[in-house]
Amino acid sequence: MIYPIVIYGAQVLREQCKEVPADYPELKKLIEDMFATMYEAEGVGLAAPQIGKALKLFVVDCSPWAEDDPRLEGFRKAFINPDIYERAEEEELFNEGCLSLPGLHEDVSRPVAIRMRWLDENFEEHDEAFDGYAARVIQHEYDHLEGKVFTDRLAPLRRNLLRSKLLGFGKGKFRAHYRTRQK
Ligand code: NI
Repeated sequence: MIYPIVIYGAQVLREQCKEVPADYPELKKLIEDMFATMYEAEGVGLAAPQIGKALKLFVVDCSPWAEDDPRLEGFRKAFINPDIYERAEEEELFNEGCLSLPGLHEDVSRPVAIRMRWLDENFEEHDEAFDGYAARVIQHEYDHLEGKVFTDRLAPLRRNLLRSKLLGFGKGKFRAHYRTRQK
């Protein structure tokens, strides 16, 4: 099933997401549907609130960057109840976009590397360090689980300049090549 993607302005994108319980019904189906929704929209990451579910769950596929970084070949993962517990002091800028803010791209500063614990789709525990594109996408998706989007990380002046554009999302003033919903 392909879900419509929730657009900026909707309350669910501002919620602190809840832990996914081990007995969550049809979790694997939900994860597969999230991958399908992400591929349909040509994204590299998708968080559960973006399909209207305030759950600590996101999916990522970094393989489009495998040409730049061979470690990302087949990097297709689901992250459940993740905890980023270490962040590099060094930050770098990267031009980010988000399926919930179609057409908007801005340079965002984030730590260059992180360490994270999480559960996979089989509820197996993992603990790994990430850098490069993977660290970037993971941090972007992780923000969604805390009710944040990438524009929250811009300098106030820059965010002010984007104000009418951001308000426009809630009024349907955007174009997307995938199905969307406002609430
Ligand atoms: Ni996003």
